[in-house]
Amino acid sequence: MISVLTKVLILYGTRYGTTKEISGEIEKIILEKGFKAESYNLSDIDLKNIPRLDKYDGVILGSGIKINRWTKAAKKFLKKRKSELIKIQNKMGVYVCCGEAAKKSNINGAIEKYITAKLEDIGLKPSLVDAFGGAYDLREGSAINGMTKKIVIGIMQKEEGIENPDGKLHDFRDWEQIKSFANKFVDLLNQ
Ligand SMILES: Cc1cc2nc3c(=O)[nH]c(=O)nc-3n(C[C@H](O)[C@H](O)[C@H](O)COP(=O)(O)O)c2cc1C
Repeated sequence: MISVLTKVLILYGTRYGTTKEISGEIEKIILEKGFKAESYNLSDIDLKNIPRLDKYDGVILGSGIKINRWTKAAKKFLKKRKSELIKIQNKMGVYVCCGEAAKKSNINGAIEKYITAKLEDIGLKPSLVDAFGGAYDLREGSAINGMTKKIVIGIMQKEEGIENPDGKLHDFRDWEQIKSFANKFVDLLNQ
């Protein structure tokens, strides 16, 4: 009998690198479980070069959120490949990385707002969804700078109650939650 390894497509959209690291952790777990994986930063690849989705046994898609929006590249991927995605949605995991999910009590709201509501518009209902807390790098030389940095500092002071947020990395990612998502996806593949 020919043994064919289960192959997972892992895609992500990121602006500041937080989602890239999450995607890397998910990929690590999937590989550890003995599956094959192919991973792409959606900003680095022409969508035409992403193979047909029926070549894969499962798909994971993640995006960082900025001003309520997915990254442009992730949105474009959803739009262009929606009919293929709908066919594989029972083996599909979708997550967002966002400030709103930093508080455990807000996770369900963030899932609804940034995943369910957005995907409903294109008729997509993936089996597994989650929202992970994000990170704000306010250290010298970070990509969050200028006016954006001032706004983020204001929000951190007001909403998070952090008195002096400047110059620090504020990381709200829960790696156990991320690992659990990857393990649940593996269970989905094994079903
Ligand atoms: C300018 C800016 C705007 C943001 N807007 C939102 C937002 O509307 N909702 C939210 O939940 N998080 C928001 N965040 C938090 C980001 O989602 C968080 O920093 C995340 O880690 C970014 O992911 P990325 O590094 O992969 O791009 C914002 C962050 C920045 C810097």
